[in-house]
Amino acid sequence: MSRYAEVYADWQKDPEAFWADTARGITWYKPWDRVFDPYSGQYGRWFSGAECNTAYNCLDRHVESGRGAQKALIYDSPVTKSQRSYTYAELTDEVATLAGVLLDLGVGKGDRVIVYMPMIPEAVMAMLACARIGAVHSVVFGGFAAAELATRIDDAKPKAILSASCGIEGARTVAYKPLLDKAIELAAHKVTSTLVLQRPMETAPLTVDRDFDWAEAVKLAKARGRKAGCAAVAATDPLYVLYTSGTTGQPKGVVRDNGGHMVALAWTMRNFYGIEPGEVFWSASDVGWVVGHSYICYAPLLHGATTLMYEGKPVGTPDAGAFWRVISEHKVVALFTAPTAFRAIKKEDPEGKLIGRYDLSCLRTLFLAGERADPETIKWAERHLKVPVVDHWWQTETGWAIAGNPVGLGLLPVKHGSPTVPMPGFEIDVLDDKGNKLGPNQNGTLAIRLPMPPGCLPTLWGNDTRFRKSYIEDLPGYYSTSDAGYRDQDGYVYVMARTDDVINVAGHRLSTGQMEEVVAQHKDVAECAVIGVADDMKGQLPAGFIVLNAGVSRAEKEIEGEVVKLVRDVIGPVAAFKNVMVVKRLPKTRSGKILRGTMRAIADGEKWNMPATIDDPVILDEITELLKGRGMVAVKTAV
Ligand code: COA
Ligand code: AMP
Repeated sequence: MSRYAEVYADWQKDPEAFWADTARGITWYKPWDRVFDPYSGQYGRWFSGAECNTAYNCLDRHVESGRGAQKALIYDSPVTKSQRSYTYAELTDEVATLAGVLLDLGVGKGDRVIVYMPMIPEAVMAMLACARIGAVHSVVFGGFAAAELATRIDDAKPKAILSASCGIEGARTVAYKPLLDKAIELAAHKVTSTLVLQRPMETAPLTVDRDFDWAEAVKLAKARGRKAGCAAVAATDPLYVLYTSGTTGQPKGVVRDNGGHMVALAWTMRNFYGIEPGEVFWSASDVGWVVGHSYICYAPLLHGATTLMYEGKPVGTPDAGAFWRVISEHKVVALFTAPTAFRAIKKEDPEGKLIGRYDLSCLRTLFLAGERADPETIKWAERHLKVPVVDHWWQTETGWAIAGNPVGLGLLPVKHGSPTVPMPGFEIDVLDDKGNKLGPNQNGTLAIRLPMPPGCLPTLWGNDTRFRKSYIEDLPGYYSTSDAGYRDQDGYVYVMARTDDVINVAGHRLSTGQMEEVVAQHKDVAECAVIGVADDMKGQLPAGFIVLNAGVSRAEKEIEGEVVKLVRDVIGPVAAFKNVMVVKRLPKTRSGKILRGTMRAIADGEKWNMPATIDDPVILDEITELLKGRGMVAVKTAV
């Protein structure tokens, strides 16, 4: 029997009492004046008046309570053929020392620090070192190019950037330092220090005045016994800013606070994921994404569990058995990844033969998130792993699951294709365009009733206006998720599609609007459209359509190649922008709006209606033929 209904009702009855009770598991330097203050911030603030430190709760607290000798972090890196681990005592020491180095670089409470690093333990140390001194970290995913990093530098205005000489992508070494230098050159804001970790696979010349060698700085600090203590920060102070894609080229700086974030994440470890302190929890994501922030770094450590950092891929490092090796070798009890990773594994090893080579008896649950979990993938995982497969829905903005099947409270019946039910803190309604509530099985915008629970974004970095415009202005009393879907007669939530320009490529959130802005910069492009088309492995892939300026006579293939390179250079390889095609014209309404939705439906072989306001219907036939020629359309089913 699941305790879900009882716990959800408890929260509904008295949200403040529910969260105050949960907050008792956190160590506070000063208690809150109000559990929830509805009069501050954009929709209220949690635990106002309280003081705390997130790094203290993740590390020192566990050492003080006798967990010092337990492993806090295991690093497994098939790409460098190496492994390392740190106990809670060791990780506390490393973080306190690095925090001391940051203080010596002039970084203080409230200053921003960008972390642009591969999946190595020092990335987590960097995040926690910032948290320790009350600095605000902003981790930028390694797959973003220099211009993207520059945009974030200009928005966050960091005092320092922490980076490494290189990352390893399968067999490829990606030099980070040239990207870092280029980004700093492009940015208007000038960064005073860069601390660079030299990796032996490819070191970087540290030639600029602001460059410091990470290992040397840490060695010197250790020799001097330099360690920083934990600064008391307000529960409502920002812990980090994480940029995510919106509808334009300017990413949104999602702010996370200290107090509410700890309370919410601590609740999820036992009640949602069903993890006990001391167990090994593996989130196979990247610290550059929200899943990595919450479930590689913060939540497992807050809970006294052991977190696993994996520098590798689900396939090719060296094979589709990599995940099973890691699980059996490190006694992982729960794996959290994106469905795309399973689709990649399934493609290489459809019969799941490699699974049989490892003892996976330690594994209790597989958690999936980041994109819609298609029923076929879920069924494949259930069949081969023989453990419950739990889909859960969340966003960078929320920081934890909006809806899911709470293992810790007892599993509810599974319905494939649904991430199950709302978590305590989230009241989900399905609304039409005018904000009217829709009934069961009716499709609309999935909206969360305000206030958002602890852990969710209080605002966007330095931009309250954009926060209100993006999330709360259109549907008064609600936070709009920009996801469309429905709830069935049992209240199960179904998340079907985004209502904006955001697409999901291999579990990575990207903006087609941003890609269009970049494509439009090409000198020969008159106009363009970028859409997300369905892809068996990555979920969606971007496809670009370009109309050339009159008089351009160069080979179309050459221009297409240049446009692909442009997007890779400006946004980064993570955009996976490889499909672009020259078209004579784009389908538009009579008022000039490009019919992106119809183009996507054609490419995906979905049913589509001829838009009544279309300027010239023949253009859609042209697009269909072109997509067919590129093998990018299933069946045309115009009605
Ligand atoms: N640094 C530099 N480049 C990176 C990078 C990083 N940290 N991460 C990805 N890239 C590059 C890749 O090498 C690839 O480059 P290529 O075009 O030269 O091949 C490109 O960005 C696209 O990456 P990706 O979409 O991740 O494709 P992939 O083929 O490398 O891997 C999967 C596909 C499915 C195996 C991989 O995406 C995966 O494991 N996804 C798991 C999902 C996940 O982590 N989601 C996060 C939220 S839970
Ligand atoms: P991100 O902010 O990168 O975590 O991406 C959030 C978006 O990913 C959501 O708004 C959804 O569109 C999508 N998403 C995440 N998890 C799920 C899920 N379990 N089911 C369906 N879509 C999901």
